[in-house]
Amino acid sequence: MLLETKNLTKRFGGLTVMNNINLTLNKGEILGLIGPNGAGKSTFFNLVTGVLSPTSGKIYYDGKDITRLKPHRVAALGIGRTFQLNPLFGEFTVFENVVAAHHLHPHSSVIDVYFNTKKYRENEKKVVESTEHILELLGLSHVKDELAKNLPHGYQKLLGVARAVATQPRLLLLDEPLGGMNPEEIIFSIEVISKLQDSGMTVLIVEHNMQILDLCDRVFVISFGEKIFEGTPAEVRNDETVIETYFGGVAV
Ligand SMILES: Nc1ncnc2c1ncn2[C@@H]1O[C@H](COP(=O)(O)OP(=O)(O)O)[C@@H](O)[C@H]1O
Ligand SMILES: [Mg+2]
Repeated sequence: MLLETKNLTKRFGGLTVMNNINLTLNKGEILGLIGPNGAGKSTFFNLVTGVLSPTSGKIYYDGKDITRLKPHRVAALGIGRTFQLNPLFGEFTVFENVVAAHHLHPHSSVIDVYFNTKKYRENEKKVVESTEHILELLGLSHVKDELAKNLPHGYQKLLGVARAVATQPRLLLLDEPLGGMNPEEIIFSIEVISKLQDSGMTVLIVEHNMQILDLCDRVFVISFGEKIFEGTPAEVRNDETVIETYFGGVAV
């Protein structure tokens, strides 16, 4: 098991937005955390990544208690993430954005950089190779010299994923990766994200778009901070409670 939450609860004042959530994520799996807007998906994300502290409950990563660790400590343990608002360096190219993301986890010291040591040059070569590999994996090689701000929305979202992958996470958390995408971009992105799984990554996807089901091994459904269902994508599609709560009775 790579990630586990035990009775994870978050209150803002008197408002309970996450109530006793027990979620597990197995190594190598893609888990979809889905639910309507306001269900508590981003809150869950922020609790796991240390942006928010839970009111009560525990979070374990690879058997280690990470409850209340600061975001940079969580990241250093190998948990990478994207952001719903997808901050990119707009004036940088796609390539430069991914190179820069590698440096969020520097392997050279300031001294190595200043004196342009052999170690520094070797590291830079590795970063360039890794960037090319990631761009290939995410289907962005052909736009690598475009400025990030000029990319179509779907590519910008994938660039956000590429930047998270550049931090070499074992666990990748994606917040609404399909948000605002057109149908073509959605199909392309689903293919790309499944390639990340093939490359050995464990992925937790927070999404309200039900098309994400095609990609998931398992799905965990929440509504108003409560778990309403957990199972396979096929089971979710047939579950009365999910259909009622989520789609207002209209099956997909
Ligand atoms: N900082 C905050 N203070 C008060 N309420 C918040 C805060 N952040 C989120 N909420 C509330 O928590 C609930 C869940 O929000 P969120 O996790 O963003 O939902 P989702 O990502 O599923 O759309 C919402 O009702 C939201 O208004
Ligand atoms: Mg959200």
